[in-house]
Amino acid sequence: MPGWAASAAFPSRRYSAEVTQTISVIGTGYLGAVHAVCMAHLGHAVIAYDVDETKVTALANGRTPLYEPGLDELLASSLATGRLTFTSNLADVADADVHFICVGTPQAPGENRADLTYVYAAADALGPHLREDALVVGKSTVPVATAERLRRRIATAAGRPASQVRLVWNPEFLREGFAIEDTLTPDRFVYGVAEPGTPEAEADVALLDAVYAKSLADGTPRLVMDYPSAELVKVAANAFLATKISFINAMSEVCEAAGGDVVALAEAIGHDDRIGHKFLGAGVGFGGGCLPKDIRAFMARAGELGADQALTFLREVDAINLRRRARMVDLAREACGGTLHGRTVAVLGAAFKPNSDDIRDSPALDIAEMIQAAGASVRVHDPRALHVARVQRPGPDYVDTVQEAVAGAHVVLHLTEWQEYRDLDPSTLTTSVTTPVIIDGRNKLDPARWREAGWTYRALGRPHI
Ligand code: UGA
Repeated sequence: MPGWAASAAFPSRRYSAEVTQTISVIGTGYLGAVHAVCMAHLGHAVIAYDVDETKVTALANGRTPLYEPGLDELLASSLATGRLTFTSNLADVADADVHFICVGTPQAPGENRADLTYVYAAADALGPHLREDALVVGKSTVPVATAERLRRRIATAAGRPASQVRLVWNPEFLREGFAIEDTLTPDRFVYGVAEPGTPEAEADVALLDAVYAKSLADGTPRLVMDYPSAELVKVAANAFLATKISFINAMSEVCEAAGGDVVALAEAIGHDDRIGHKFLGAGVGFGGGCLPKDIRAFMARAGELGADQALTFLREVDAINLRRRARMVDLAREACGGTLHGRTVAVLGAAFKPNSDDIRDSPALDIAEMIQAAGASVRVHDPRALHVARVQRPGPDYVDTVQEAVAGAHVVLHLTEWQEYRDLDPSTLTTSVTTPVIIDGRNKLDPARWREAGWTYRALGRPHI
């Protein structure tokens, strides 16, 4: 068996954008589809695998399963080069130098912990096809200690000792809506290796450097650390972001009690560059497939490690976040004269954030459903997410235009801050509604504009004028 460990077998190709690799991407969900397309765009030969044949066929024919700005165009141009192919037969990836594991780690049903079924299934299936010198790179968001377990599982499946499986943990930090930019020009690369400083680790680092050569040559920081640290970087980053949002939403609650204005407060504290303005947008809070489930999985893992006290604050971060949704329902009820029963409510936005058709844990849809359950007739509009919402969250009435959504409404709720809603001319909607009341759940509309057009404008964390 040739020993992969000899670093001489992997001469340093660091920072050379000339050398391209043969890459496999396992899993073509949000992360995998974007990663595969971006790696092909960088010049690598990429074969992307998924168990879902429908998805594979669609991607191979240039159709993406999700909305992400720029992805359709980049998929088309990468397919045209012939460097990007898709398969549902894992044996096809056997020639790859580097295998990226990009499968999902959703919240386990009825529990806080992450469901690792797909990650382990990928490891078990990949093992028998893994070349002895090939590198496996984990990108999925996982609980700390998964990388080492995965290495052992791959080893068992490959029939060799764990020490002869090359694995780097390389978390992703991409944001939906900016996924291509975040993949091609990330803020930083994090590489978790089995034993930092050893020739084996250096060989793995050099190979991954060759994959990311273009970004590294542009000066993107690259940090090498052990597996647990690399796994923790990802969840710590998301926990910090969630905490920042819940912090400003907690201030929003206090502003509501004290008659303060959370937007003015956020603007003022953000000028302290130790605090900064980013992620201080008060409103109905965070949703999506990452922050909510990642903080819950982080708490669950800390509990298993006996470090649960360290993260009890995240329980409060989660609670503050969910309270904002309930507060929005209360404000809608108040605007409807104390009851939602028999009222018509317009909801602007279904996606968990703008520039995405992702409705996972969407605050907007949770609020829409709660209001409907209270007896109102709810009409929801979204520029991109209606096709998914109609299938996955049937209940509210989904309509194709803002005019249809607001027709006869007793109150209009702005819950996802699409540019289209910010650009609305409120005077064109005044005569369509029963009562011109708008509640801004994202604090992104211009209050003066709406008030001048005859609307009562209310928002979370701002004084009621
Ligand atoms: C998040 C992280 O920002 C990424 O760095 C990370 O890679 C990704 O999760 C992941 O783990 O894969 P994403 O879920 O795309 O990215 O969305 P964010 O931009 O973080 O927004 C999350 C939620 O917070 C949205 O519902 C958004 O509306 C809300 N938000 C954001 C606020 O309520 N206020 C803010 O100021 C900012």
